[in-house]
Amino acid sequence: MKFNNSDKIGEIVTRFPKAADVFQKYNIDYCCGGKDSLESAAKNLAIDAQSIILELDSYFLKSSNNKSTDWTQASFQDLINQILQAHHAYLHTNLSSISDLTKTILRAHGANHPELVKVYQDFNTLKTELEVHLIKEETVQYPAIEKYLMTLDLEDLKTVIDVIAELENEHTVAGDLLKNLRTATNNYQVPDDGCNTYRHAYFKLEELEKNTFTHIHLENNILFPRLKELL
Ligand SMILES: [Fe+2]
Ligand SMILES: [Fe+2]
Repeated sequence: MKFNNSDKIGEIVTRFPKAADVFQKYNIDYCCGGKDSLESAAKNLAIDAQSIILELDSYFLKSSNNKSTDWTQASFQDLINQILQAHHAYLHTNLSSISDLTKTILRAHGANHPELVKVYQDFNTLKTELEVHLIKEETVQYPAIEKYLMTLDLEDLKTVIDVIAELENEHTVAGDLLKNLRTATNNYQVPDDGCNTYRHAYFKLEELEKNTFTHIHLENNILFPRLKELL
C-alpha cells in the first residue's frame, strides 16, 4: 500500500501531485490544510479514510506511467519558474475576466439565484487579495529569493524567511474564500435554468480553485519548507 492514515495531506500531494484530483473531489484542503493527516482530514469531513486510501492507491497505479516532476528535488529556479509561469501568469490572465463573468451572471440570474450575490462579493474580495499578494511575491519575496540564490549570504536568506509567515496567512485567507465559493455554488453545480455563461463562469471558478490550491501547495508545502531547511 502506497498511502497511509498518518500521511500528511500536503506530503501526499508532494509525492503524488495527481492526488490533488482525489482531494478536490472530497473537498479535502491540500494547500492550507496540508499539515493535517489523512485520517484527521477525513474525520473532519465525516468521510471514510480507508476508501480514500484505496482510491489514491488505484489512481497511483493507473498514473504510474505518466511521470510528473518531483518539485522537492528540482532546482529552486525551476520550482520558481513553475510557480510564476503556471500559477501567477494564470491569475494575471484570468482574474479580471472571471470577475466580469460573476457580474454578468449576477445581473442575468441574481433575481432567481440570490447566492450569486455572495459569489460576486467573495470572488471580488479574493481577486483583490490575490492581486495584492502577487505584487508582494513578485516585487519582494521572489526577487529576495533570487538574490539569496546569487549571494548565498545568510542575511539574505533570513530576509526571505522573515516574509514567509505573512504570505502563509494570506494563503489561508485566499483558501477560506475559495472554500466559501465552493459552498455558495453548491460545489459548482449549475442550476437547471443556468445558461452557457453561467456554466462557463462556474467552470472557470472551479479551474481557478484547482490552479490556486496547487499554487499554494507548491509554496506552503514545498518552496517555503525547502527555504527554511537551508537555515
Ligand atoms: Fe505565489
Ligand atoms: Fe503565494
